[in-house]
Amino acid sequence: MSNATLASRRNDAIARGVGVMTQVYAERASNAEIWDVEGKRYIDFAAGIAVVNTGHCHPKVMAAVEEQLGQFTHTCHQVVPYENYVRLAERLNDLVPGDFAKKTCFVTTGAEAVENAIKVARCYTDRPAVVAFGGGFHGRTYMGMSLTGKVRPYKKGFGAMMPDVYHVPFPVGLHGISVDESEAAIEQLFRATLDPNRVAAVIVEPVQGEGGFYQAPVELMRFIRNLCDEHGIVMIADEVQTGFAR
Ligand SMILES: Cc1ncc(COP(=O)(O)O)c(C=O)c1O
Repeated sequence: MSNATLASRRNDAIARGVGVMTQVYAERASNAEIWDVEGKRYIDFAAGIAVVNTGHCHPKVMAAVEEQLGQFTHTCHQVVPYENYVRLAERLNDLVPGDFAKKTCFVTTGAEAVENAIKVARCYTDRPAVVAFGGGFHGRTYMGMSLTGKVRPYKKGFGAMMPDVYHVPFPVGLHGISVDESEAAIEQLFRATLDPNRVAAVIVEPVQGEGGFYQAPVELMRFIRNLCDEHGIVMIADEVQTGFAR
């Protein structure tokens, strides 16, 4: 089997909208290395877009998967729940900073996490509007795409976005936007266009990923926290790419 043959089969079988970054078809992997179907060995700097923190096929992960498969594969937790689902939520709750009780909701993708965070914020506040940042990325569903602060390549060609989503500039020194300017843009938005009492949530990535790798300055995060407290707005930190507590 060759990479070229598989690429050709892939082109015939898979919709073009699903992009692929390499033409290397994996056969096996171990720790930080991948071997392709032609037997070539690669060092894997991508790690499934930074999610295989343990390396490929870590013995502890393999043992846990094997043990689970020996017990049951799928019951659907909403139908027949099980202990390790609850235990994982407890462990995540322990990791989240803050001296208060926390709860977890498991979903399949980052876009679903964002969608649900907005749904919770809108339902809880009984308000419709959401403020997001230029250059931000929040997923490919309609709300995720609407919140995303980049037309190309994410929104172009996909028609009307969700209503009541407002973007303000994200501070990036390299692009000549200071924290003061970002804060002033939010204040101006609230003065001129959007009543803060209509705002359900402000969503921000603590480190932007798809907009370039830009850390949100601490002053900006504090400003958003205070602004949200002042107006009863929910602050959402989209850590899908940063992975909190890593
Ligand atoms: C910050 C952020 N939010 C949301 C998403 C969407 O996640 P998913 O592709 O799992 O839907 C991503 C994906 O990279 C992301 O980086």
